[in-house]
Amino acid sequence: MHIAVLGAGIMGSALAERLIQGGHTVAVYNRTADKMKNVVAQGAHAFSNASQAVKASDAAILMLADINAINAVLFGMPRVSFKNRTIIQMSTISPDESLRLAKRIQRLGGSYFECPVLGSKEEAKAGTLILMFGGKREVFEQWTPFLSPLGKSLRYIGEVGSASGMKLALNQLIAGLGAAFSLSLAFVESSTIDKELFMEIVRKSALSAPMFDKKWERLVTRRYDGPNFPTKLLLKDVNLFLKEAKRKKLNVDSLAGIRRTLETAIKSGQADVDYISIIETMRPRR
Ligand SMILES: NC(=O)c1ccc[n+]([C@@H]2O[C@H](COP(=O)([O-])OP(=O)(O)OC[C@H]3O[C@@H](n4cnc5c(N)ncnc54)[C@H](OP(=O)(O)O)[C@@H]3O)[C@@H](O)[C@H]2O)c1
Repeated sequence: MHIAVLGAGIMGSALAERLIQGGHTVAVYNRTADKMKNVVAQGAHAFSNASQAVKASDAAILMLADINAINAVLFGMPRVSFKNRTIIQMSTISPDESLRLAKRIQRLGGSYFECPVLGSKEEAKAGTLILMFGGKREVFEQWTPFLSPLGKSLRYIGEVGSASGMKLALNQLIAGLGAAFSLSLAFVESSTIDKELFMEIVRKSALSAPMFDKKWERLVTRRYDGPNFPTKLLLKDVNLFLKEAKRKKLNVDSLAGIRRTLETAIKSGQADVDYISIIETMRPRR
């Protein structure tokens, strides 16, 4: 299939690589042209605007930072033509944003479904993401052969908006688990307790989560560059969750605290490094 990937950031580049390996012809567009070099070296065709990339393809995947980035890329100048094109929305945005986007694309003659993903660049490259589909069931059946090789699990969630909601619920867990683990580790480090022993006990307990091991090296070496998931994007998702949850009249006090932690990390210059760097806001100042 001829497929456009709009956004060659951490996830867009990894996904483009996987698609090329799967035998697809990949057109790529990124606002900052330099970032397309790696995927071009893998065999992708770079375009200087999204409109041309979509024109050269049967469908286009959106893997952009947020709804503002999506609007800028799709509806900026030159505007993308959606006639006979399917837009596959994989960025993390809110259910409302996804619904509004779907309507706008459909009004302009295109088709739309959402398919946010769980997992990061390694999973995208290896085709082991968890993909969550939001749209008509018959569209899901139609796109299953294309989507399946991108993940270890492809699940139908419901109509447009539902998969975006599922993704926000999961990312709230990332924020909660990341913050809780970081604070426990900071506590252990500030005592005479051996942190390796702490980790050993966590691993053997019902408290363990694979993400603790995934983040362990960053946490103990205090190296957060080459992020899997940057702090600024987790803050974006926490804000989207808070807005939705408040509308549902949920008590979000716990997450409001984590938002403040993420904001503090960003003020300290940690916006573009891995979000687990939030532990630095919890550790005593060096
Ligand atoms: N990283 C993960 O582990 C992960 C996992 C699942 C889902 N996600 C979600 O997937 C999406 C992409 O994430 P990522 O990690 O690939 O982020 P990223 O590396 O920061 O890439 C963001 C992309 O959005 C573009 N962009 C940002 N603002 C823009 C604007 N105003 N106009 C045009 N383009 C703009 C960037 O272009 P430039 O290069 O020009 O800045 C880049 O292509 C996000 O919604 C994120 O929440 C991320």
